[in-house]
Amino acid sequence: MKVLVVGGGGREHAIIKKLSESDRVSELFCAPGNGGISDMATCAGIKATDLDGMRLFAEKTGIDLVFVASDDPLALGMVDMFEECGIKVFGPNKAAAIIESSKVFSKKLMKKYGIPTAAYETFSDAGKALEYLKTIELPVAVKADGLALGKGAVMAHSPEEAVKAVRSMMEDKKFGKSGETVIIEEYLVGREVTVLAFSDGKTVVPMVSSQDHKRAFDNDEGLNTGGMGAIAPSRLYKGDLPKLCMETIFKPTIAAMEREGRSFKGVIYFELMLTSEGPKVIEYNARFGDPEAQVVLPLLKNDLMDVIDAVLEERLDKINIKWHNKAAACVVLASGGYPVAYTKGYEINGLEDAGKTNDVFVYHAGTRKENDKYLTNGGRVLGVASIGGNLDIALDKAYSAVEKISFKDKHYRKDIGRI
Ligand code: AMP
Ligand code: GLY
Repeated sequence: MKVLVVGGGGREHAIIKKLSESDRVSELFCAPGNGGISDMATCAGIKATDLDGMRLFAEKTGIDLVFVASDDPLALGMVDMFEECGIKVFGPNKAAAIIESSKVFSKKLMKKYGIPTAAYETFSDAGKALEYLKTIELPVAVKADGLALGKGAVMAHSPEEAVKAVRSMMEDKKFGKSGETVIIEEYLVGREVTVLAFSDGKTVVPMVSSQDHKRAFDNDEGLNTGGMGAIAPSRLYKGDLPKLCMETIFKPTIAAMEREGRSFKGVIYFELMLTSEGPKVIEYNARFGDPEAQVVLPLLKNDLMDVIDAVLEERLDKINIKWHNKAAACVVLASGGYPVAYTKGYEINGLEDAGKTNDVFVYHAGTRKENDKYLTNGGRVLGVASIGGNLDIALDKAYSAVEKISFKDKHYRKDIGRI
């Protein structure tokens, strides 16, 4: 089969790597891809949001399956488009992807179906939002309704921060249309866990749990980023928790989407806060997480193609999805200044040496290849990942490989998996 993966970050590299291990895949393509992906797949210089360009490329190349991995094309309806032109496609359609692309939608869904989440209010008038802030206790979470590269949520601990967040989203339009409506929600106290799951619209099968590290600096300081590192499984997701989450969150969410006529087929991402009142949903995503995919997919025993088929043919209840009894860790190497301002185009050295470390794989996030050299090309540059018999082993291996890689202004967290 010829498979096209849509996207161009570390997550897409992890999907490409997993698919490259399948006997059923004969040729891999990625659009737009990146420097590292181009070593495993033919990359096409088409923007992930270019629906027509993607269709023309898939038709011309005779693609058998398209895997839409990133959020923007899902929200734009790329899956619907491929379904209409008769090309097999993996990912939720536009009606279902709204669970990520509109926080207002997902909060209303949870409220309607009694799925535990933070209490909230919605505002599309900045004046009313600012008035409301005067009446509530802090801290509070201020969130843009739409997609914002993982940066659209501000945890405000002072009135000034809360006002600034509302103003920057609603008046200064920091996130464009995404911030025209905002949610102001109760601040949840607890530890976070990510659970990704396959869903065929009826059956939901959770993957091994994971933990993302969203803040830019050690000790969870600094701004929220797309994710500075991840581990799997999470140390916290054990005991009665998986069963409780299945009954109160995962199954009810998939059933609610079905009831709303928005059957969810693909990978759903549950971001959970473990509060003293039990697990609550922080948000949903309609896709694999990045960098969570880099730690979860290597632990999957099955051929990913078999799981994709089971989702598309609505027979997830019939297959046995198995996981390696190991741990995985991923440390993101970012450009200094990310997630705000950073410079691209620096040469990356030591990749070959790092890749030789046992059980280590270096996923490329923001890189490009020029004359056989790899250059930095984004905020998150690389994800140095490893698997091991336990988490400490995986982390030690990943961090020893991290030391071998250099580029100007390299920045990474030293406490991934330790906090
Ligand atoms: P989100 O963009 O909704 O995933 O939020 C990004 C990060 O902000 C989450 O990973 C949490 O660490 C934090 N966060 C979001 N919402 C809340 C909340 N209601 N209470 C506490 N922390 C939150
Ligand atoms: N790592 C967070 C995300 O993929 O949304």
